[in-house]
Order: sequence, then C-alpha cells, then structure tokens
Amino acid sequence: MLQVLLAVGMGALALLLFVVWRVRTDGAWALWWHDNYLERLRDFTSGQSRPMRILQFVQSAAAPGDANSAICAVDSYCANVEWAMNVGDKKGQILDAVVLAVRPRWVLELGTYCGYSTMRIARLLPPGARLVTLEMNQHYAQVAKQILGHAGLDTQLSPSPAPHTQGEEPVGGATQSPQGRWRLQEALIYTTLHCLQLPLQLFSRPPQNPLSPFCPKATEETAERQPAKRSSACKVDLLVGASSALIPQLKKKFEMETFDLIFIDHWKASYLPDARLLEECGLLAPGTVLLADNVTCPGAPDYLQYVRNSPRYRSEYFPCQLEYLQVEDGMEKSVFLG
Ligand SMILES: C[S@@+](CC[C@H](N)C(=O)[O-])C[C@H]1O[C@@H](n2cnc3c(N)ncnc32)[C@H](O)[C@@H]1O
Repeated sequence: MLQVLLAVGMGALALLLFVVWRVRTDGAWALWWHDNYLERLRDFTSGQSRPMRILQFVQSAAAPGDANSAICAVDSYCANVEWAMNVGDKKGQILDAVVLAVRPRWVLELGTYCGYSTMRIARLLPPGARLVTLEMNQHYAQVAKQILGHAGLDTQLSPSPAPHTQGEEPVGGATQSPQGRWRLQEALIYTTLHCLQLPLQLFSRPPQNPLSPFCPKATEETAERQPAKRSSACKVDLLVGASSALIPQLKKKFEMETFDLIFIDHWKASYLPDARLLEECGLLAPGTVLLADNVTCPGAPDYLQYVRNSPRYRSEYFPCQLEYLQVEDGMEKSVFLG
C-alpha cells in the first residue's frame, strides 16, 4: 500500500515538474498557464477581472498625471504579481524606438487592452499628433480609459458607455467580463490544482517587491494634493468595436488621409486580413510603418509570409522575449513601399 502511495506521489510530482518546465520554456504552455488558468483562478478568487486588478494597482501605485509612472506600475505588477498581455517593458523599448524614429503625426493601434502600449506611444508623440486605438472588448476599453486618464492622457472613448455603465467602477468584474463566467466546479478544479503546485514555488525565484525602485510610487501627497498634469499634448481616440468594422470608417470619421505608424497587437488571425483592409481603404502611404507584436509567440505566420514576400513592403524582424517571461517572441517592422 505504501509503495503504491509512493509511486502515485512520485508520478504526481513528476507531472507537476513537467508542467512547470513546459510553462517556463514553451510559449503555448506559458500562455495557457498565465492567460487562461491563472487568470481564471484569480478572477474567481478576487471577484474581479484582471484589467480591473491592474487598474487598481495603477491607481494606488502610480503618480497621477505621469504616464511613465503608470507604465512602470503596470510593468511591476505584471512582472511580479500576475502576467498580462501588454507589449511589456522589453518589447516596449523596441516600440519606443520605432515611434521616436518615425515621429508620426497619425498613429493607429489595433488592440488596446488596458492601454499600456497606448501610454507608451502617446507619451512620445509630438504635440498635435493623433493616436487612434481600437478595442473590441467594452470592459477592457473602459478600464483602458481610466488607466489613460490616471496617466494624464486626454482620451475620448467612443461610442461612450451606456448610462448605466458610467461612473468610477467600469463595467465587469469577473462575473460580467467575457472571461468571468464561472462555474463553481471549474473553479474548484483549478483551485485544487493550484494548491497542488504551490510547493513547487519554493524552488522558484523569491517574490519581489511589486514596485521597482525606479517606479515613483504615489504617496498620499501625490495622490491627494498634486493636481493631475497632462503627460502629453497628444489626443487619444479609443474606439470600441472590431477592427474589421472600424477600419473602413476611419478616414471619414477623422477626416484624415493615411497613418504614419500602425501598431498591430490584436488577435493574431486578424493581422493579415486587417493589413490588407488597411491597404484597400487607402490608409497606408509610402513610408507608413507597420509594427506587429507577437509574430513568434503565439505567432502570425500568414502575416509574416505576406509582408516578407510582398514587393509592397520592406520587412525586418526584431527578436525578443514574450512580455514578462523568458519565452522567445519577436516583432516585425514592415515599411509600406506603395
Ligand atoms: C495583446 S492585447 C493588446 C495589448 C496592448 N496593445 C498592449 O500592449 O498594452 C490584444 C487586444 O486586442 C483586442 N482585440 C482582438 N481582436 C480585435 C479586433 N479584431 N478588433 C479590436 N480589438 C481586438 C483584444 O480584446 C485584446 O484586448
């Protein structure tokens, strides 16, 4: 009997070690673990969505009106407390470099999520520049608006939320967001699994202070007495809806011609159809730069195949790591040639 128990215990331990090893080395496993299992578990235990938890951390940790502080707070939270699908600090530096090199007047972002990359881009834009960001998830868009507001960015959300969704608290705790519809038995299974793997965390790196020393923390003074200062003179337009529906409306809505920079960071299957749609709608001019995130993990092979082989683009790959993890990823910068 003891031998059977020992064998079962060793088997379970070996399985857990295998899972942990895969999660740390394989992009698909890492995304499933962080973006599915752990997120659902925390949604269930906290009764809130992950974007809401990020918002609350930003509000408590970042100096109001300071985009750099808000960026730093999001990075600190996501590196040390819970992973989230922001472009992150390392790939964020590639994004920063491209924004600074292009010096765009019109920027389009596909996929806002909590507004992390929106803040990174907006803080580097010259006065008078416009940043249009598209997000199909209403709850994420409302959280992003609040984070951008805390960072001091002038953000117009459209369409505006319905009256019953307005106010300090954005719609959707865990129970209302699409990820948050939970069944109790599912939660119990996740919780049991999570408890089983807790001993393994003894072997992982020690927990760090969520706030890095470089992140100016909001003191009572900054939070209460300091008036919010504007981070950037650039205006952010946050449109709620699917990119395929919104892209054809952009020219008319903003009375503009073409974008100078497009940051592509929504669902990967939409990269290629949306790039083609941008071409069809005449939103690209010779010199327009497309910067696509996550082209290696989770990957957008059809998009890469297209921009690397089309005579209409000059394309360059930037190897890097998936946000907040040691998993291989990459960004593709493609200049539209006409
Ligand atoms: C990877 S996250 C964006 C992260 C963000 N760019 C950042 O770095 O902080 C992808 C987001 O795109 C949104 N999304 C996915 N497909 C979309 C589509 N077709 N149109 C608009 N938004 C979309 C998702 O809801 C999600 O919030």
